[in-house]
Parts: sequence; C-alpha cells; structure tokens
Amino acid sequence: MVKTNVQLPYFDGLLAEFGKGNEQAITAFGRHVHWGYWDNPNAADGTVADFAAAAESLCRRVCDAGGVDAGSRILDCGCGFGGTIASLNDRFSHKQLVGLNIDDRQLARAREQVQPSNGNQIYFILADACEMPFEDNSFDVVLAVECIFHFPSRERFFQEARRVLASGGRLAICDFVPLPVHLFFSRLADIFIKSAVASTYGPFNSNFTLSKYRSLAATTQFSLRHSEDITANTLPTYPVVRRLQRQMGDMATERVTAMAELINRLGLSRYLILSFEVVRYFCFR
Ligand SMILES: C[S@@+](CC[C@H](N)C(=O)[O-])C[C@H]1O[C@@H](n2cnc3c(N)ncnc32)[C@H](O)[C@@H]1O
Repeated sequence: MVKTNVQLPYFDGLLAEFGKGNEQAITAFGRHVHWGYWDNPNAADGTVADFAAAAESLCRRVCDAGGVDAGSRILDCGCGFGGTIASLNDRFSHKQLVGLNIDDRQLARAREQVQPSNGNQIYFILADACEMPFEDNSFDVVLAVECIFHFPSRERFFQEARRVLASGGRLAICDFVPLPVHLFFSRLADIFIKSAVASTYGPFNSNFTLSKYRSLAATTQFSLRHSEDITANTLPTYPVVRRLQRQMGDMATERVTAMAELINRLGLSRYLILSFEVVRYFCFR
C-alpha cells in the first residue's frame, strides 16, 4: 500500500506558485526540480532561464553516467514533474520510460507535461522507491536524480534497484555526499537545524559518505563504475534558488538553502554523480 500522503513542504510551495502562474518559478522548476550543472561556473548569468538550462545539463550528465543510450527500459525513481523522462524522450527513441514518484500531485503534472514521442512509451507510477511494484529484471537502467536523501532507506533502495535491474544493468544517482569530518559537525548542527530542514525540505538524510556508498554497493551486488565530483559546477545554483525563495516569501527554506550553500562552499559536503553496475557472476562447470 503506497503512502500517498508523503508530501514535501517545498513541493507544496512550488505547486502553489505554479497555481498562481509565477513564471519565474515555472521556468526554474516546472520541468526539473534539482540543482544546475555549469561546464564553466563563471559563465553563469544568474537568470532563471540560465538555471533551467543548467538543470537540463545536470539531468543529462546523470543519465549519461547511467549509460542510458545502451538501455531500452529505463526507470526514473523520484521523478518529480517528469523532467528526466521528458529529457530522455527528447533525446532517444524506442525506449520504455517509467517515472516513479510517491507524490501523486507531481505525477499528475508529469502526465500533463510529458507526451511520448520518437516511438517511446512513457508510464508514470505512484510508488515508494524502496518498495517498487515491478517484477525482477524489468529494467536496464535505474536513475535517482537528486532524491535519494529523501528515501526512507538507501539500503532498501539499492536492494530494490538491484532486484528490478537485469544482468549488466546500471544505477545512476546524484547526491550531497559529506566528508567524514562534516559528520562530526553535522551531529552538532542537527541540534539546531534538523527541525528547520524537516519543515522546509522534508525528510532529508545527508549523512551517507562515499565509503558508505562503496560498502553498500558491495553488499547489494553492485560495483561502482563512475564517481564524479561536480560541486564547483553546481555552485551558481544557490544565488538563483535563494532569490526565487525570497521572491516566493519562503524565508525559512531560503535560510536552509543558505546553510547548504555554506557547507558546499566550505567543501564539507560534495555534490557527486555516482553510477553502479550489477556485478556479473560467471559460472564455471
Ligand atoms: C529534489 S526532487 C527531484 C525530482 C526529480 N528527480 C528531478 O530531478 O526533477 C525529489 C523527488 O523525490 C521524490 N520522493 C521522495 N521520497 C520518495 C520515495 N520514497 N519514493 C519515490 N519518490 C520519492 C519527491 O516526491 C520528489 O519528486
């Protein structure tokens, strides 16, 4: 049974702004709801149009890290408003594209916004990424673009991704990955900011280090195939998103975004793209 009442406060705010016709909010977050990637961060111009283009670049980078071109069945977990599925639909043909999300309001927008083209098939499914309603070996690629920190358990998500992936399948994610030193400070900071994060961004677990990812991969039969630190390429996100949050009157979320900016600028946490491959076992007789 899917808990459809899992709603993240920042999505409540975005949906309210979309309802009011806030063009800046729609341009920035109507397709993708994640940070941007700039090849040259110094060339970022601070506009929402530039941010939206950078968000598309980040999505493409994660998809490419997952080797989507070589797969025909692609699952996007935590699919938001369907931006990653829309991007795949624009770029590729004859793929089966499935978006999964726990919030049916987001899925309703995704179904409205994204129509299949290029011979692709598209489905949007209401489900928890840690309890997927799919048969074993159903997909060639599983994606989770900037959402794994919301899931109830990374361990459970990796197990599910492994189960639904076929032999040789790939999992690609992006996440805010702390350095071990940050964990010490974050335990102290939690006392002050945990409730501020919960009441703005919702459930958010950012304590998973790269070494934890390596161990998790090993115990769930994945091997790490690609790890890329794109922190510097994402930094122009913060001034744009904070300005939008101020303009929306959402000062509480803006304060939490400012704290995240500080942590990333200090290098205590890094923004990583990670991709994993299902380990193949050979049987010798
Ligand atoms: C930051 S948004 C990213 C959305 C989308 N991946 C994108 O890049 O545009 C996080 C997404 O994770 C979804 N989410 C949170 N918990 C989830 C869960 N347990 N299962 C599936 N989706 C979940 C949220 O509803 C939201 O769409």
